[in-house]
Amino acid sequence: MKILGLSFGKKNANSDILTKEALYGAKEAYPDAEIKFINTQRLTIDRCIGCGACSMALERGKDNNCVIKDDFQMVEEEIRKADAVIVAAPVYVLQPVGQFKNLVDRFSCRHDVSAINWVLDKRRNGEMPGDPDAFPQERFKRRTVSYISVGGASTENWTSMGTATLHLFGFPVMMQVVANYNANSMGTIGNPYLDEELIGHMHEIGKRTAAALEMAPEDVEYYGPKGNGTCPVCHQNLLTVNGTTTVECPICGIEGKISIDGDKLHVEFSEAQQARARGTFAGLREHTTEIQGFGAICGPKIMANKELLDRQMDRIKNFDKYINE
Ligand SMILES: Cc1cc2nc3c(=O)[nH]c(=O)nc-3n(C[C@H](O)[C@H](O)[C@H](O)COP(=O)(O)O)c2cc1C
Repeated sequence: MKILGLSFGKKNANSDILTKEALYGAKEAYPDAEIKFINTQRLTIDRCIGCGACSMALERGKDNNCVIKDDFQMVEEEIRKADAVIVAAPVYVLQPVGQFKNLVDRFSCRHDVSAINWVLDKRRNGEMPGDPDAFPQERFKRRTVSYISVGGASTENWTSMGTATLHLFGFPVMMQVVANYNANSMGTIGNPYLDEELIGHMHEIGKRTAAALEMAPEDVEYYGPKGNGTCPVCHQNLLTVNGTTTVECPICGIEGKISIDGDKLHVEFSEAQQARARGTFAGLREHTTEIQGFGAICGPKIMANKELLDRQMDRIKNFDKYINE
């Protein structure tokens, strides 16, 4: 069993401590586990430039490598090897630090289980070039993940998008979420070692993230020491409202129905909606189908309006000239 700890915080600071304590917990429960820890703070993980080289390569029968070469490749290799991952990131302005999102944009989209299998199926039926069996199947292996968001503020709303955004890392790869923990209040706790309960939770998170690998996915019980959240899939408390009694979980993209009893709010997410959450194959496939339909809708429109678009695009390409005219 390979367990990876990824910390996006400062070296030996709060995120490192919490991640390493979770790894100690996993090691206590599984002494033979192979443990790897990476602190990303001094690594260069540049942003995705949206060049599309990865998806084009896949559609041309090759691997979908990222063409930007920096420390990302080393981190990616370690995530691919891991069976269980503990991710901890500090909150910078309500959300995980930006470097985390750079990793998500470059790693997670390129490991979208549905998008890759869509291409592999096309290879199988001869509609796309390439050997479907040449694609490394271990990329689809079962993985578990737990998220720890680390914030200074005691006011929880200053960390409101911490654990929620951390979820973006694992859902395209269909990693099973075992635990979320919003480790806020670091400004008053001072050091995680001054809060025994917090350290205990980290051990439990490490142990459970590893133990889940030995269970059937449906038997894994979510571990949420601060509550189980509103969405039964991601266990977050964020909701998108639209003026009706139908609400949406912005992380999972599933609909729920709200009802109010006195001052209690209840949100019911049906089994059918849970089964199409973004982190399931069905949920990912909805998006693959949507994306694959873009060409048929846009292609004819663009061709029919070529002259208009050329004229308008000249105003964009030569903006400095036009704006000062
Ligand atoms: C630029 C910046 C913005 C921050 N914004 C927030 C914030 O919005 N909410 C919060 O709770 N903490 C915020 N913090 C505090 C950090 O989350 C906190 O110090 C955390 O422990 C840092 O993680 P580390 O100790 O692992 O480096 C911010 C820190 C920095 C440097």
